[in-house]
Amino acid sequence: MKKTVADVNVRSKRVLVRLDLNVPLDKQQKITDDRRITSALPTIRRLMEGGGRLILLSHLGRPEGGPDDHKKFSLAPVAKRLTELLGKPVKLVPNCVGPEVAKAVQALRDGDVCVLENLRFHDEETIKDKNAAKDPAVREQKESFARQLAELADVYVNDAFATCHRDNASMLTVPRLMEGKPRVVGYLVQRELKFLGEAVSNPKTPFVCVLGGAKVSDKIAVIESLLGKCDTILIGGAMAYTFLAAAGVEVGKSLVERDRFEFATSLRKVAHDRLKLPVDSVAAREIAPGVASQVYEGPIPPDMMGLDIGPKTIAKFVEIIKHAKTIIWNGPMGVFETPPFDKGTLAVAQALADATAAGAVTVVGGGDSAAAIAKADLNDRVSHVSTGGGASLEFLEGKKFTAIDILDEA
Ligand code: 3PG
Repeated sequence: MKKTVADVNVRSKRVLVRLDLNVPLDKQQKITDDRRITSALPTIRRLMEGGGRLILLSHLGRPEGGPDDHKKFSLAPVAKRLTELLGKPVKLVPNCVGPEVAKAVQALRDGDVCVLENLRFHDEETIKDKNAAKDPAVREQKESFARQLAELADVYVNDAFATCHRDNASMLTVPRLMEGKPRVVGYLVQRELKFLGEAVSNPKTPFVCVLGGAKVSDKIAVIESLLGKCDTILIGGAMAYTFLAAAGVEVGKSLVERDRFEFATSLRKVAHDRLKLPVDSVAAREIAPGVASQVYEGPIPPDMMGLDIGPKTIAKFVEIIKHAKTIIWNGPMGVFETPPFDKGTLAVAQALADATAAGAVTVVGGGDSAAAIAKADLNDRVSHVSTGGGASLEFLEGKKFTAIDILDEA
């Protein structure tokens, strides 16, 4: 068990709070989904109420040094949204290191909050530890950037679950340099670890995993890890066609990864009937809203591609989910952004909500499945929607999160 923000006295202390405020923005720099901000509020409020002086850190996107980067990837919209949500001005400091930061931190009073500009405006943030280990000059570059952040504060808080699989300077080097000072997790990290962790390590059975998305190659490690733990894996999305094609089924123009046929075949052998594939598909000639589509059981004609699970598969998957006591869902069942190929994904979302109402623990991995559950407006009707995309996938794969491991034990 890790120490949390509930275990530290932050009164009049400067608290460095690493969050993942990497929210999607539209072309006008408007936030299109503020869930990562709202998910951080319990930690921020607890620290404000405790009289801490908050220095919020985050990245946004992956700036690569383009001319518009400072506008496109600025945390300004985030600071504005935080100001609205907290009912108190949250100042955006235009850099994350340097004299203006020192000055802004100096000016903080108990309960004040500032947010430092995008960490990834400095390349040092994303220097990989393995590269730093190979070259002392590179290592010093990363460390001296991290040192400037570490020296700003008395307490370090990690509530950036969605970045916990990264070895970014603010995630690893900074807390390492702050050894001896309190270094704790926030409520969001605590909640993510509880739901994702308990689901995989101590599930109530039957334990069912629903996996989808485009590529088998993205999900190999997670399938292998979950297969050893769950009773049934339901596979949907385009990745199902690799399994079907590997078994000799005609799948037309559907997305298929031929180099994964061997994996798909051997996995089916190991899994026997614990791995369920679609028995029918909704297919069309192209992906466009409202195009003509057709349901196929068995072969898909050469000029058509499977874009969603069909009605029989929906009924079968829903029935299995209904009897489950723990369900993890990662990856959509079809091209849910483009109706009519959203039905399978929305049906799975509804089935999870119904299972939750019937007492099951339901966990939705982040990324596309989180977007799908939001589209179905069922966020509040499942046990937990992870804020992590890559992070929740890596967690389910059983990978270690050093960014959490190095923090204080309770
Ligand atoms: C995410 O969106 O998954 C996190 O913010 C991590 O971002 P990254 O994949 O760019 O490191």
